[in-house]
Amino acid sequence: MATRTRPLSASGRTAADPEKDDVHLKKTPARSVPTAATNPLRVGTRLERIPEPCVMVVFGATGDLSHRKILPAIYNLRRAGLLPQETTILGFARRPYTDEQYRAEMRVAVEKFSRNPVEPALWDDFAEGLYYQSGLFDDPEGYRNLVDRIEQIDSARGTRGNILFYLATPPSAYPEIVANLGSVRLHDESQGWARVVIEKPFGHDLDSAIDLNKRLMEVFDESQIYRIDHYLGKDTVRNLMVFRFGNGIFEPLWNRRYVDHVQITVSEDLGVEGRGAFYEEAGAARDILQNHMMQLLSLVAMEPPIAFEADALRDEKVRVLRAIDTDWSEERIRRSVVRGQYTAGWVADTKVVGYRDEEEVAPNSTVETFVALQLEVQNWRWADVPFFLRTGKRLPRRATEIAIQFKQPPLRLFKESASEPEPNLLAMRIQPDEGILLRFAAKVPELGLDVRSVNMDFTYGSSFMQDAPEAYETLILDAMLGDASLFTRADEVEAAWSIVTPLSRMWAQFDAEHPAPEPGKPLKPHKAHDAGELSEQINFYPAGSWGPEAADQLIERLGRRWRRL
Ligand code: BG6
Repeated sequence: MATRTRPLSASGRTAADPEKDDVHLKKTPARSVPTAATNPLRVGTRLERIPEPCVMVVFGATGDLSHRKILPAIYNLRRAGLLPQETTILGFARRPYTDEQYRAEMRVAVEKFSRNPVEPALWDDFAEGLYYQSGLFDDPEGYRNLVDRIEQIDSARGTRGNILFYLATPPSAYPEIVANLGSVRLHDESQGWARVVIEKPFGHDLDSAIDLNKRLMEVFDESQIYRIDHYLGKDTVRNLMVFRFGNGIFEPLWNRRYVDHVQITVSEDLGVEGRGAFYEEAGAARDILQNHMMQLLSLVAMEPPIAFEADALRDEKVRVLRAIDTDWSEERIRRSVVRGQYTAGWVADTKVVGYRDEEEVAPNSTVETFVALQLEVQNWRWADVPFFLRTGKRLPRRATEIAIQFKQPPLRLFKESASEPEPNLLAMRIQPDEGILLRFAAKVPELGLDVRSVNMDFTYGSSFMQDAPEAYETLILDAMLGDASLFTRADEVEAAWSIVTPLSRMWAQFDAEHPAPEPGKPLKPHKAHDAGELSEQINFYPAGSWGPEAADQLIERLGRRWRRL
């Protein structure tokens, strides 16, 4: 049986090789636009890290993610001169393609989805390193063939025995792919490194995430596993750490003494975009809250790590998640959580159907397309500071933002002013209009002493005059470099599921006991709830609005308001 037991190529080096440098260093490529001469913020000779050559095996190579994200990202990394020439992609999927057919399909995909245009000469060179292997995820024969193919590629292209597996398949296939890789010893690192990248969703609740971690770790070591949350690859999300820990003036204010509350919004104008079947199993809590929002929250709330290094960072993030109360009593849910589902409406000037009328969605579905909630991070830094989170589909616009609202000054000195200025606010816009805004009070330039709120606004686009890389470019490059800082660790994923799982479970139980409400009909309070009290039941909101009214009540009863975005 073919297993990975012999040296892969003359160029393959063993893990024990003392000369095995893990990166090459290279100057910033000249292709960046604009050049340092036109942009003073980019003057300097920054050294870029270039990974060792490897073969990247993409499972699910003909799927949507490969077309839209993975292949365009690799092409752009090559274009930026950040990948060695030897880097090779081996697509693995069911369709019986030849290498040539796969190359042709990927060219169309990259032309369509790449942020940079395809340059014919560069594409030809890139396509020489694109291969395809047909196989079924559950057929051991395919994995034996894979070993042979990887060996051939390794000797032909000098990938030094390094392999990056990328699981871009439906999550149900993860366990069998990993087990099969183990049975042909493709996880073995004696002839080069072997790493596995896993896409979200990582499980659908706490138990399934624990089980998936267990199965992964029966084959791979945690240090070989790279769990993706693509928000961590966004440049603006990475900048959260730079903003907090690369500046001296903000950190002293970043605590319960000065911060009144924190708001995190992930708003989308899109609906479920043909993914009705997937979304029926997920809902906003599993799709966005458990991963992207919990990551944003932990980056905002974490303590400074002792080093800018994967485990030091992840240790601190996990501490934040563990400081969140996971005891969701019915009473607490009614006080601090609202779930919603969109009905038909208008987004911008387009008429859209309600969630229940989307394809592959049950006509009486109670799956949430919106969640708003209040959490507390129970530690010394944050005790009693509410964190308000909201996410939804079919809201008026796409906007992801973290807003730190500071407390009012202790005395109102400028009583002559016609209006009281709003409290200081720091808003970090993750997307779009990426930037950071600081709101403060200023005197109106007139006689008298009128005071108004003004904004100091930094935008990435106008300051750096260049596009940020796509999240997938950053993440794939980091996985090849062996830097796991922007990937989630097993304990982190499980801690995030511990927060969301009890909530979803209570909703499911509530729905099993109560008939699904009809959109448009007033929701009746259940049991002995006071009129006006929030409820565990689903609330409807018209597409194109900012979610159900109950979400406003949730925050307003604590004397705050959602930011208008
Ligand atoms: C994905 C979710 O993880 O993130 C999608 O499954 C969502 O439902 C997407 O639309 C949002 O990502 P972004 O990068 O567009 O904010």
